[in-house]
Amino acid sequence: MSTLTTPDTSPLPTSEVVYRIQGGEAVVGEIRALGAKNFTTKAMVAALLGHSPTTLSNVPPIGDVAITQEMLAAIGVGATTEGDTLTIDPAPLASAQVPIPDSGSNRIPILLLGALLHRFDEVAVPVLGGCRIGERPVDFHLNAIEQFGGTVTTTSAGYVARRRKRLHGTQIKLPYPSVGATETCLFLSVLAEGRSVIANAAIEPEIIELITMLRAMGAIIFTSAGREIRVEGVPQLWGTRVPILGDRIEAASWACLAGASDGDITVSGINPNNLGNFLAYFQQAGGGFELLDSTTVRFFRRGPLQPTVVETDVYPGFSTDWQQPFALMLTQANGISIIHETVYENRFGYLKALNALGANTQLTTHCLGGLPCRFRDANHEHSAIIVGPTPLRSAGNIITIPDLRAGLAYIIAAAIAHGTSFIRGVPMLERGYGDVVPRLARMNLRIERVNDR
Ligand code: EPU
Repeated sequence: MSTLTTPDTSPLPTSEVVYRIQGGEAVVGEIRALGAKNFTTKAMVAALLGHSPTTLSNVPPIGDVAITQEMLAAIGVGATTEGDTLTIDPAPLASAQVPIPDSGSNRIPILLLGALLHRFDEVAVPVLGGCRIGERPVDFHLNAIEQFGGTVTTTSAGYVARRRKRLHGTQIKLPYPSVGATETCLFLSVLAEGRSVIANAAIEPEIIELITMLRAMGAIIFTSAGREIRVEGVPQLWGTRVPILGDRIEAASWACLAGASDGDITVSGINPNNLGNFLAYFQQAGGGFELLDSTTVRFFRRGPLQPTVVETDVYPGFSTDWQQPFALMLTQANGISIIHETVYENRFGYLKALNALGANTQLTTHCLGGLPCRFRDANHEHSAIIVGPTPLRSAGNIITIPDLRAGLAYIIAAAIAHGTSFIRGVPMLERGYGDVVPRLARMNLRIERVNDR
């Protein structure tokens, strides 16, 4: 077990964009959740399977969308943006050699591999980016492509998939209900010849939304209890119109901001059902909520925060993308809380900076929980102990974002810490959160984007 307490004292470069936050007050106000990052980019890939244009609305202004758009443009896909509406026309698609984007990297290239293989005999995509929160292998994706009749070569530059004839349906059982691998299987199966069965599939709300979108494009997909998806392949799909669902990860984060700061935040633009068990854990920790209408929820504290034991899991479990903001709430709870992370082996990189602000957290390689965990016999620090309540203080501390979701946790940390904090690594955060500074500043949080050029 290790205690982490190293403050970052490096000088702040004058040319770098950082967030300056003066915290210590309850955050109160209204905020609209933007379109879900982890559905938008998948919908952009799905649009390539159609024969006619697809229009996405409620598209968030985030880096991940820009990166995906750059990759699509590089292979000839037409894309026109009007406000938050993005129309994707796959007709001019001219090449399946996807270059490395200049604007950054994300997880989308591996999804393009399967989707483009229906249209081209050979597809090449670059190596993946995204957050370093574990090894993040892509073996399930590559095995799926082979099972559908393709072959894949891995090179230092990326992945090359080939096929000799139309892909064929298959029966596939994922070793773990991976979100991305389920998406790859869906993209492969909808246009493959014959029937496919995907067992042990992910059922996250963004997957269900993707299935609905593919059905609207003409795909024949059946879902059933027990994580099984059956697809009857069709020869052709059409474009469609898709309003992007509100981001449930954002919404939970604003709830945690209300809980941690003893504030009161009304979040609009979300389907509360998609928050699933988060709402149970939030209440167990002392939070409360009120449904104002079918897409608007008000979050607040019902009383003193209580210590809570949380294990992250695939949906409908507590999402791994919720644990970072929730940890901030737990630093303010009266007692010892535990988070057992079972989805990614290395997702607690942000605790070090929290300890420097006054939090009392420790990591252990032991599984502090009862869920089956793939990291049980490995040496990963994947359980956290959080002792609260610890008031946070910042005397100009500079905290550097290690990964996207940790970035939002740092905003919450800086919001509840008395004093001024600086947050570095802004491009990483803005890859997944759009207009974050103006939206938070419209509540009473004193946040600025400084050194903006
Ligand atoms: N895994 C494998 N082999 C594979 C694929 C996955 O071992 O071929 C393992 C992963 O290493 C991980 C687990 O399976 O331990 C789950 O990974 P999954 O494939 O479900 O994750 P993903 O599709 O790469 C998406 C989101 C993540 C989110 C996870 C879990 C996107 C772009 N990313 O990742 O979001 O945490 O599902 O819900 O949709 C984020 O938004 O910050 C983020 C990391």
